[in-house]
Amino acid sequence: MSTTAPSLAFSLLLTCSLLFISASADSFYQNFYVTWGGERSQVLQNGDLLTLSLDNSSGSGFESINEYLFARIDMQIKLVPGNSAGTVTSFFLSSQGQSHDEIDFEFLGNLSGDPYILHTNIYCQGQGNREQQFYLWFDPTADFHNYTVLWGPQLILFLVDGIPIREFKNLESSGIPYPKSQAMRVYSSLWNADDWATRGGLVKTDWSQAPFIASYKGFRVRGCVWLSGNSNCNSDSEVNTWMWQQQLDYAGQGQVQWVQNNFMIYNYCSDFKRFPQGFPQECYLTHNT
Ligand SMILES: *[C@@H]1O[C@H](CO)[C@@H](O)[C@H](O)[C@H]1NC(C)=O
Ligand SMILES: *[C@@H]1O[C@H](CO)[C@@H](O)[C@H](O)[C@H]1NC(C)=O
Ligand SMILES: *[C@@H]1O[C@H](CO)[C@@H](O)[C@H](O)[C@H]1NC(C)=O
Repeated sequence: MSTTAPSLAFSLLLTCSLLFISASADSFYQNFYVTWGGERSQVLQNGDLLTLSLDNSSGSGFESINEYLFARIDMQIKLVPGNSAGTVTSFFLSSQGQSHDEIDFEFLGNLSGDPYILHTNIYCQGQGNREQQFYLWFDPTADFHNYTVLWGPQLILFLVDGIPIREFKNLESSGIPYPKSQAMRVYSSLWNADDWATRGGLVKTDWSQAPFIASYKGFRVRGCVWLSGNSNCNSDSEVNTWMWQQQLDYAGQGQVQWVQNNFMIYNYCSDFKRFPQGFPQECYLTHNT
């Protein structure tokens, strides 16, 4: 009896935590369409796990059924392991049309043992050019990690394992565009971009390693669904129920600083060559508060 009790307790604990995980994730079946690559995209484990693959004839991708106008999107991704040079895995929000808005995570693969680059960008009304790139402080191919986009009316945050790595504020009052009037879908894809992805295109995809596979789980969306021109959030306070904050608090600012000081490898706001006439205006305002 005394020997079975601990293992019973353990299995109860395990069951509860498994139930908690499946209850807290949103099913891939119910939330996404496979839009590209056919059989290369697979939904497994009752909708809890999705894999994308890339081979020498095609990549693959999926997109959300719903559109959102403000949302917090969480996804756990395990990136292509081994020699992933030339491959890009993307996870982003985007609206449609020429003057679309977009909030991007892109993971640029590399040779075994060399670091992935996490590339981020924000498009407002069709215009991007707001790239920031980072190395990660862990091996993103060894396990699943959480990648989050928080898109609110006042603030966009990119988070990695709950740590904010980038903030983009609504500075419309200073004339800077901010994505807030076009609904967006969630997209993800895995494709070949060996003309630019790894060391600027120097390292090509090694097709003998194909198929390349990225895995997804733990999708969670909290936000306002946009349907036929209407939001299912009726008021600002409803929008704010799932936003845990309107602005980054002091601790969060410290985390952004830590990431930017230690892991940022490119920031458009300090690329003098690219902006010889002066940086985009938000670059001067972002650190003022
Ligand atoms: C693509 O990969 C398949 C399977 O490995 C191989 O048989 C085929 O020759 C490859 N095609 C090209 C164009 O490299
Ligand atoms: C990712 O988030 C889930 C759900 O909150 C959590 O259980 C898991 O530990 C997180 N993973 C990492 C690597 O932080
Ligand atoms: C790949 O590794 C090289 C060498 O460490 C590094 O310069 C580069 O930033 C890494 N990432 C990519 C995507 O090129």
